[in-house]
Amino acid sequence: RIAYVNGRYLPHSDAAVHIEDRGFQFADGVYEVCEVRHGVIVDLTRHLDRLERSLGEIRITLTMSRMALSQVIREVLRRNRVRNGLFYLQVTRGAARRDHVFPPEATPATVVVTAKSTDPSIVAKKNANGIKAITLPDNRWDRVDIKTVGLLPNALARQQAKEAGAQEAIYVDKNGMVTEGAATNVWIVDRDGVLRTRPAEHGILRGITRTTLMDVAAAKGIAIREEAFSVEEMLAAREVFITAATSICFPIVEIDGRTIANGHPGGMSQKIREAFFDIAE
Ligand code: PDD
Repeated sequence: RIAYVNGRYLPHSDAAVHIEDRGFQFADGVYEVCEVRHGVIVDLTRHLDRLERSLGEIRITLTMSRMALSQVIREVLRRNRVRNGLFYLQVTRGAARRDHVFPPEATPATVVVTAKSTDPSIVAKKNANGIKAITLPDNRWDRVDIKTVGLLPNALARQQAKEAGAQEAIYVDKNGMVTEGAATNVWIVDRDGVLRTRPAEHGILRGITRTTLMDVAAAKGIAIREEAFSVEEMLAAREVFITAATSICFPIVEIDGRTIANGHPGGMSQKIREAFFDIAE
């Protein structure tokens, strides 16, 4: 495997950043994960738009142009022969002697791009059978709208899910309302048959898959209500599913050991998944 690090393409095993990189020391960086399907990068423009926003929110300046960045991404995918898989892009505030305040302005940002192929049979199995989730209190900071590499709460939550025999952890806010998954957005088809997801203005990351799913729903004439739902509403829903660039649309059939609907993936998630790649760009 080949990775891109600060202007160089290196064997994955030799690719490294400095020990005083601020990504390592302060989680002072942002990232994107993007799906590649049949050799096409899914929703690249939206992912690069969000990257720019994240960088702006934490005041990192990237001198590399969007065009140059896209070329690097394509080159990493090409060198790794990825036709179905993903790329990972991380930008940090660069390497400088450890100090909480920003380094001198001339300090270049660190840019890393990696890519890997995914096994479509694993995805197909999850879609066919559905996956399990647990709920837990949302203990993250209140700027989860920024896609930062500071993912310790998310990593702990996913590990807790794994130890409970589940694949995703669903966060719940202080009012008992669902926010999002440790690395996904959460959707339900409620008791009235309405497709719902939490508004992206507060408490969640505005997922690119979430945005594109809204386009898919509009094209298919499916109404969406951006309205938060409680854990009780989720447990009583006709369908629950999660979305992310890495999983597009996985049905959830069990939460905290309780079966959702009849315990089988529902029709809505399937319909959306089938239409997704016709709409995504
Ligand atoms: N995670 N919410 C959180 C907290 C996420 O980390 C992600 C994505 C999403 C979905 O966003 P999108 O549809 O743009 O992928 C929602 C990535 C895949 C990750 O951390 O690996």
